[in-house]
Amino acid sequence: MRTATAVPIITAHEVGIHFPVAGGRTLRAVDGVSLEVHRGETFGVIGESGSGKTTLGRALVCLERPAAGRVLHDGDDPYRLSAAALRRHRRDFQVVFQDPNAALDPRMTILRSVREPLDVAGELPRAERTRLALEMIERVGLNPEFADRYPHELSGGQKQRVCIARVLTLRPALIVCDEAVAALDVSIQADILNLLADLQREFGLTYVFITHNLGVVAHISDRIAVMYLGKIVELAATELIEARPLHPYTRALLSAEPVALPSHMRSHQRIVLHGELPSPVSPPSGCRFRTRCPMAVTRCMQDVPAWREVEPEHFCACHFAEDVGDAIVPQRPGGTP
Ligand SMILES: Nc1ncnc2c1ncn2[C@@H]1O[C@H](COP(=O)(O)OP(=O)(O)OP(=O)(O)O)[C@@H](O)[C@H]1O
Ligand code: SF4
Ligand SMILES: [Mg+2]
Repeated sequence: MRTATAVPIITAHEVGIHFPVAGGRTLRAVDGVSLEVHRGETFGVIGESGSGKTTLGRALVCLERPAAGRVLHDGDDPYRLSAAALRRHRRDFQVVFQDPNAALDPRMTILRSVREPLDVAGELPRAERTRLALEMIERVGLNPEFADRYPHELSGGQKQRVCIARVLTLRPALIVCDEAVAALDVSIQADILNLLADLQREFGLTYVFITHNLGVVAHISDRIAVMYLGKIVELAATELIEARPLHPYTRALLSAEPVALPSHMRSHQRIVLHGELPSPVSPPSGCRFRTRCPMAVTRCMQDVPAWREVEPEHFCACHFAEDVGDAIVPQRPGGTP
């Protein structure tokens, strides 16, 4: 149980991840993101393709070093550790990716794949490493007979179970699940989500759950962060996002989601997002969402909306968050100011 004074397992403060692109320009994939992830929670991150979710997830677990701002783990800066200590520290922060085929070596048996992180760590005798790997293969719901098989002999869902077993052998504190169920059939998705929930209880895991599927993120998350073009535009407990979304983008996501959402989350008014996500190399002035926002006014072109706590534990970056929360968003044709 979290207490008000507990130090977050992850604190991100004004984090920026920048990539150099053609023409000597800079792409700010993550731009000034601040958040806290609390131990034991499932922290959902949602946004369109290209909004920066994967890059943020990688930054949170030290796979991407911030060009600006800081990421703290349990209140400490992991980049102050020596290279060897940072390698050991990273074992506590693992990632499960969307595509298990890319994560598994087709030439390795399932046992070797699951044992490999322990082999690399090299701290336990081989027999113990094998025992732990077999135990984890069973724990993720695979028959021990699978140990001697190869990835191509398994279904997509079974391969994703292998990937989960593989990261669990290191007994991490936190796992970033980056679209971990997106490639699976809907019925298999539910199995994997249930497995993740069971493992969370058993191992006291913290999840950062990245997805473009609002139905999935709402089902599994305690809190949800909504990302748009490198920035978090809204962050709150799932119930608050469900009951009173304060950002026009969140409302648009909610209204666009088909039947996968629980009935109380489905919006009666369909808000259609016009146009494509702008380029993060040259984002719009003022509010980044203004080129697609049905509520945009002239002020939105000039003033960057402040990130503020609009109501307790409910953060949003929109000049008119209170109005959005209180009213149904009026649709304007074209969506441009
Ligand atoms: N190594 C890189 N070099 C240059 N640009 C990158 C790099 N990695 C990501 N980007 C860019 O950063 C932006 C954010 O990418 P990211 O992969 O984080 O988005 P995402 O929200 O995870 O998208 P998706 O839902 O498609 O996975 C995109 O514009 C992407 O092209
Ligand atoms: S600040 Fe303006 S453009 Fe941005 S989300 Fe709010 S109303 Fe829309
Ligand atoms: Mg991604």
